[in-house]
Amino acid sequence: MKPHRILALALVATGLLACEKSAPPSGGGGGGGTPTAATATTNSAKVDDATAKQIFNEKCANCHGVDGKGDGPGAAALNPKPRNYTNKMWQSTVTDEQIAKTIVFGGAAVGKSPVMPASPDLDAKPEVVTGLVKIIRGFAN
Ligand code: HEC
Repeated sequence: MKPHRILALALVATGLLACEKSAPPSGGGGGGGTPTAATATTNSAKVDDATAKQIFNEKCANCHGVDGKGDGPGAAALNPKPRNYTNKMWQSTVTDEQIAKTIVFGGAAVGKSPVMPASPDLDAKPEVVTGLVKIIRGFAN
């Protein structure tokens, strides 16, 4: 009988060890800051992209169209009309900086139609501007 009991104990002991190994590291005194910060960064980038999408749909789509084709209801009476952002040729003629500048400072500031409004409030929110640039680039895909 005795060898069996020892074997049983050994098995239990192995089981406990395995459990301990697979348990998450205890982290020590407040060392868990890095993963939290990483999560926060990812979340804020998502928030900025979501804000950009919301701004585009609320402010820009009226002229530029929800699909970026420049055919929003507000564009009908415009001359020149907003460009068709699905046009890859056009996409290749502008830099991200030019797009961002037009968004923040408006058409008049870059020698384009003054109908294209400035959004000076976005000057303080470069992440949102980046999100808008991404949206405009995304129409070409
Ligand atoms: C009142 C209508 C109107 C609204 C609202 C508007 N735009 Fe425009 N946008 C235009 C027109 C018209 C042009 C074309 C100007 C030109 O080609 O001379 C233009 C040009 C642009 C350009 C430059 C494209 C190029 O040819 O280099 C960008 C980028 C742009 N708009 C982004 C936006 C974004 C982003 C918003 C929302 C924050 C927005 N626009 C809101 C009318 C509008």
